Amino acid sequence: MAGRAVADRTGLLPVDDLPVLRQRRSAKWSRYPDDVLPLPVAEMDFALAPAVQDVLRRAVDASDTGYAHPEPVLGPALARFAGERWGWDVDPGAVTGVPDVGVGAADLIRAACRPGDAVVIDPPVYPPFFTWVEEARTRLVEVPLRQRADGAWRLDLEGLRAAFASRPAAYVLCNPHNPVGRVHDPAELAAVAAMAAEYGVTVIADEIHAPLVLPGAEFTPFLTVPGGADVGISLMSASKAFNLAGLKCAAAVTASPAMRAVTDRLPSDGAWRIGHLGLLATVAAFTDGGDWLDSLLATLDARRRQLSGLLAERLPQVHWVPSEATYLAWLDCRAIGDGDTPHELFLHEGRVALEPGTHFGAEGSGWVRLNYGTSEAILDEAVNRMAAALR
Ligand SMILES: Cc1ncc(COP(=O)(O)O)c(C=O)c1O
Repeated sequence: MAGRAVADRTGLLPVDDLPVLRQRRSAKWSRYPDDVLPLPVAEMDFALAPAVQDVLRRAVDASDTGYAHPEPVLGPALARFAGERWGWDVDPGAVTGVPDVGVGAADLIRAACRPGDAVVIDPPVYPPFFTWVEEARTRLVEVPLRQRADGAWRLDLEGLRAAFASRPAAYVLCNPHNPVGRVHDPAELAAVAAMAAEYGVTVIADEIHAPLVLPGAEFTPFLTVPGGADVGISLMSASKAFNLAGLKCAAAVTASPAMRAVTDRLPSDGAWRIGHLGLLATVAAFTDGGDWLDSLLATLDARRRQLSGLLAERLPQVHWVPSEATYLAWLDCRAIGDGDTPHELFLHEGRVALEPGTHFGAEGSGWVRLNYGTSEAILDEAVNRMAAALR
């Protein structure tokens, strides 16, 4: 029986043992043979927050599996959560439900652009950023993130200015940024907002990882920086932080008439495409999931420290600038000299599945992404196997 997600004595969230985890049929747990430790796709191994478990159980017990009715509940729940977590004053009436962030992003690109318009992204970045742009029949313009000499990742503001000057229709910002885990700071975001206003660019801010900002960093909603509301639309969801990806519910948030005009062009039957269980779980997570989320963040902070220590001790050839948010680690494996496919070495020789760096753009050649949203024991075993693969 899978565990109930209450923090243990240490205040950290427990994870079921491998045989129990392997009963899950989600992508993470069904794509690899049983001797492979799966640490690729962004799903977590912790049990669901109790508030989410309860609402889903009640829905199944009541055969309450029809269509979603997001309008009266999603906006108020998200507004309350955003106010409590980030002091962000969201107008519940300016929240539009979308089936998930991926669908929302592709639909927003379509709503903000005409076919053939240019759309800017910052690789290495979550792979669907590339496909959303294609799906909307728009044209990719890549402005890679920059890594400073001290290893820290930053938006390339000069590169963005040059790209914006050629008047793309939209920019899809990832904040916090998957895969590097950077939480962009208010000054960078304000600079983006100013440039977007100057050149007439709509900023679609994918903020799905915002609830996963770890101790030491602070999330700034794009719509709260000076000028952000006039040029930006935020995509928010409980799905990454509360592990609800299969349930299908997210939200587009605006704070100006100009951006509201863009969300008004989203498909008119969008609410019918949202998952009802996703909506129930999202509202429960935003309303009653705060304590669990705090335990999750403490747990991920501990795993982040653990992974740093393990890499230094057992895999010194692999370099990592610890993430400021998310449970994703962007690992520089170029020193192991396995070209652009270190994930293959780790999979075939170590039986550990990681996300290939090249999925995140050409800049990811020689890198892999590891998911540390798991137990201390599984993380320890994964790094042991990776180290053994190199021997
Ligand atoms: C930055 C980012 N955006 C969007 C998604 C996908 O969100 P959804 O499942 O709501 O489409 C992910 C999933 O990992 C992500 O990392």
